[in-house]
Amino acid sequence: MVGAFALPKAELHLHIEGTFEPELIFEIAERNGIALPYPSVAAFRGAYDFTDLQSFLDVYYAGMNVLRVEQDYHDLAIAYLRRAAAQNVRHAEIFFDPQAHTARGVAFEVVVEGLRAALREGERDLGISSHLILCFLRDLSADSAMETLEVALKNRDRIVAVGLDSAELGNPPSKFARVFERARAEGLRAVAHAGEEGPPAYVVEALDVLKVQRIDHGVRCMEDPALVERLRRERIPLTLCPLSNVKLRVVPRLEDHPLKRMLAAGIVATVNSDDPAYFGGYVEENYARCAAALDLSIADVETLARNSFEAAFLDEATRHRFLGEISAAGSMLQDAPSS
Ligand code: ADE
Ligand code: ZN
Repeated sequence: MVGAFALPKAELHLHIEGTFEPELIFEIAERNGIALPYPSVAAFRGAYDFTDLQSFLDVYYAGMNVLRVEQDYHDLAIAYLRRAAAQNVRHAEIFFDPQAHTARGVAFEVVVEGLRAALREGERDLGISSHLILCFLRDLSADSAMETLEVALKNRDRIVAVGLDSAELGNPPSKFARVFERARAEGLRAVAHAGEEGPPAYVVEALDVLKVQRIDHGVRCMEDPALVERLRRERIPLTLCPLSNVKLRVVPRLEDHPLKRMLAAGIVATVNSDDPAYFGGYVEENYARCAAALDLSIADVETLARNSFEAAFLDEATRHRFLGEISAAGSMLQDAPSS
């Protein structure tokens, strides 16, 4: 299996604020004269003992509090893009949480201008293409989401889709029906976190009410055989994040993760890193650790890489080019002596 994880791939479920390594948090905090509630990088990392999604979100929002000016957002995003490019991520669709910044008085334009500068640099210097996905915080109101969308529509360069994240339980997709309807009418694509902690019914709502084109996580769909069959039949991709699911106790151990069963059921599953600074690995570590824990074959890993481009919001010519790169790399893997 050595080498298989370096296949060309797309990353489709990645919160840019979740790539904030504590070393960079401390550097930017100092630059901005902000005191952190932790005395050191080690103490910050020591807080990464999560029991559920909310216990993680508390630390995640504390970390991003130091982001204030365009340069900060640029530095955050370029650090991620360098790591991703080193793992042969060729295309990234990057979530950002504008309300977590505007609520602290940072203008939407500051956030997106900083991110866009990094994305341009990533394209030019690292050969990695990228889009942004604007996520609404589902524990805030639908009115707040609509206001955010209106600002974004005036400044939408590079924003390819809207998404839905943050605390899932008690905040069903239907709460955002009007916001997603407006976003879709404006030509944006739609995705949503669903079935991470929430029930399979939230996945169904995300599909039927928000009309999303991909489900982020969707792990709990396995509790509903009719939903599994629907996902397979309609080829609705799931953007899975296995190391995240272990850290946030969505599954007890990686060995229990349904990824392999999903592939066997014909679901278009993809592997991604979610919040890699907090969950112990970037996308390649997610691939490698799943392969080891679930005994994935080279063909399974190749399917995951292929699915990542099938599920990406790319034009058909670009998709075809990336899939061709996998075919070329994949045949070298099959020819190589197994290790
Ligand atoms: N925001 C960042 N990471 C998230 C996750 N795993 N689930 C929901 N919201 C998030
Ligand atoms: Zn996520």
